[in-house]
Amino acid sequence: MSTEVTSKRLTVRDIAGRKGGTPVVMLTAYTTPMARMLDPYVDVLLVGDSLGMVLYGLDTTLGVSLDMMIAHGQAVMRGSSKACVIIDMPFGSYQESPEQAFRNAARILCETGAAGVKLEGGVEMAETIAFLTRRGIPVLAHIGLKPQLVHSLGGFRAQGRTEAEIAAILADGRAVAEAGAFAVVVEGTVEPVARALTEDLAIPTIGIGASPHCDGQVLVSEDILGLFGTFTPKFVKRYAELSGLVEEAAKAYADEVRARTFPGPEHCFKSNWSRTADK
Ligand code: KIV
Repeated sequence: MSTEVTSKRLTVRDIAGRKGGTPVVMLTAYTTPMARMLDPYVDVLLVGDSLGMVLYGLDTTLGVSLDMMIAHGQAVMRGSSKACVIIDMPFGSYQESPEQAFRNAARILCETGAAGVKLEGGVEMAETIAFLTRRGIPVLAHIGLKPQLVHSLGGFRAQGRTEAEIAAILADGRAVAEAGAFAVVVEGTVEPVARALTEDLAIPTIGIGASPHCDGQVLVSEDILGLFGTFTPKFVKRYAELSGLVEEAAKAYADEVRARTFPGPEHCFKSNWSRTADK
């Protein structure tokens, strides 16, 4: 019998067990090369439906399909071996009924091998979350600012500024935790409310534009890398400015092709063949 210890992915139980402990590090990934680069450093790779805006140039996440999420989920699974991979359920794939949600979440897990799904919603999604979790589908809930509700909300704006909003967010947190979510993303929520939620809930809160007191943090990778310039939310910190490097590289390549200095001899396959004059 082999005694070799093989590396294993983090599980949703590992993530749930981080409540109040070492913060959970989560970043988005949509492709194999990005997943490969991030995998050693994060606990969770989120295949977010933000890919609709970041990769496909859509104005909102509403145009993202289940097939898109599955294809990108497969790519991220191929590029990672350690992180727990969670895949967003896109708009329209789970709101109709718990049965619809189960069918589509099962497709996501079966066709990608990911560990769980994320869906937006609090009290109104509690029944669906309970239906999924009781049937073996781990759910990461998403409350506070819910980007799939952009039209009802009238834009992407921070939540928790009125007594009614605060009560709703705290009720949403309690509802998804009771329904069995293993953790909850808290997006765009004023700091004291996100902190209160973290104190109230027995499951980890993962903040994005929320509070440093959350049990973990998530950001969109292209935002922190300076690769997505269309719109930078206040809560994003840029850790690199890669789009400038991409533009410099593209310009240098274009200049060299036009000057015929690329490709050089070192980029060509050698052979002794040469065209002989026609007899
Ligand atoms: O779609 C996404 O990337 C997300 C994160 C920003 C939390 O939901």
